[in-house]
Amino acid sequence: MDQPSAILGTPLSASATRVMLLGSGELGKEVVIELQRLGVEVIAVDRYANAPAQQVAHRAHVIQMTDPKALRAIIEAERPDFVVPEIEAIATQTLREIEAEGLAEVIPTARATQLTMNREGIRRLAAEELGLPCSPYRFAGSLEELRSAAIEIGYPCIIKPVMSSSGKGQSRLSAPDELEAAWEYARTAGRVASGRVIVEGVIDFDYEITLLTVRARSAGGLIETHFCEPIGHVQVAGDYVESWQPQLMSKAALERAREIARAVTGNLGGRGIYGVELFVKGDQVWFSEVSPRPHDTGMVTMVSQVQSEFELHAKAIIGLPVDVSMRTAGASAVIYGGIAATAISFEGVAHALEVPASALRLFGKPESFVKRRMGVALASAENTDDARARAKLAASRVKPVLR
Ligand SMILES: Nc1ncnc2c1ncn2[C@@H]1O[C@H](COP(=O)(O)OP(=O)(O)O)[C@@H](O)[C@H]1O
Ligand SMILES: [Mg+2]
Repeated sequence: MDQPSAILGTPLSASATRVMLLGSGELGKEVVIELQRLGVEVIAVDRYANAPAQQVAHRAHVIQMTDPKALRAIIEAERPDFVVPEIEAIATQTLREIEAEGLAEVIPTARATQLTMNREGIRRLAAEELGLPCSPYRFAGSLEELRSAAIEIGYPCIIKPVMSSSGKGQSRLSAPDELEAAWEYARTAGRVASGRVIVEGVIDFDYEITLLTVRARSAGGLIETHFCEPIGHVQVAGDYVESWQPQLMSKAALERAREIARAVTGNLGGRGIYGVELFVKGDQVWFSEVSPRPHDTGMVTMVSQVQSEFELHAKAIIGLPVDVSMRTAGASAVIYGGIAATAISFEGVAHALEVPASALRLFGKPESFVKRRMGVALASAENTDDARARAKLAASRVKPVLR
């Protein structure tokens, strides 16, 4: 399916190069902006109206992306050249069919989206097929199975729905009397009430990273793998609150991290950016999970890299070469909604932007929740410590309010 070099058309015409985004959140919004800059026609799909990426796309559609019929119908109606999943909750079997029929190219591949939407698929591939180091794990489909799985893994352990993201439905357990509540929480808070969970042993890491890994066509036409500088991040209750780039690592750990990322992304294949999540202790590295798309912790690259993760993804999708080099040390800090309401406002924006070398992204989400990510503050500096302090200060000055 790979053509020797990309040819780009004129949007809204018969020659258009068309991309359909499945999922239209804040990460997709930046991908759309990058595609727009290259004159690509973009169709943004989500399950609710006025999602962030829909606000900057040529057209928008609201469908249930987990519904195979609805998904196929929209792809057949729009006939995009590229289908680009931005979230996990998609009828990925339909994507496999679309890809097999040659109807559109799925980014990075339909198989990658299918394997990574379920923790069981990607964990078995990484640990059992590729032999990569992972936390010890078991799967369970009932409270009874969970009880015996937890005995085998031991405590502390982490329980996660096999289909969930951003820490939803996850619990960290220190004793068996917490199992029942964890099971209930996982069963009800997962994306799909599949009633299946993974039990993982806790890795006592020094730090965790996202290794953004790009598979892109070189000027000569071959698919090459590029590694961005590692991104360090802090997670609270399984959700990212702060990130920075570069995360300093020992030479041995960085080499190992790249080996692992190359093995996983090489197996999943295709073109596009992957966010490979890894745990590091000294020179030891464990694979945690991988997203076949831009990563939330990678928003920092909008200030720290010559080409952000969104520009890298956009270019890789349409078959252009990429440049992963850094511009400066940088950091990001999340701005949560803090209130549950629609059509909120943001106070303190000018004050936030008084922080030196800072920048803001307000996502424009129509509805705010207390723990919904509504924006992010970015900052650069001579080192990541200063960049983190600046990003956190800027984020703290933005106040979501109801007027
Ligand atoms: N086995 C583990 N050992 C230690 N920390 C973990 C483990 N699994 C998850 N975590 C912590 O929880 C965070 C979220 O877990 P993750 O599996 O990435 O879920 P999600 O898909 O929701 O991002 C990780 O970034 C890490 O901080
Ligand atoms: Mg994660």
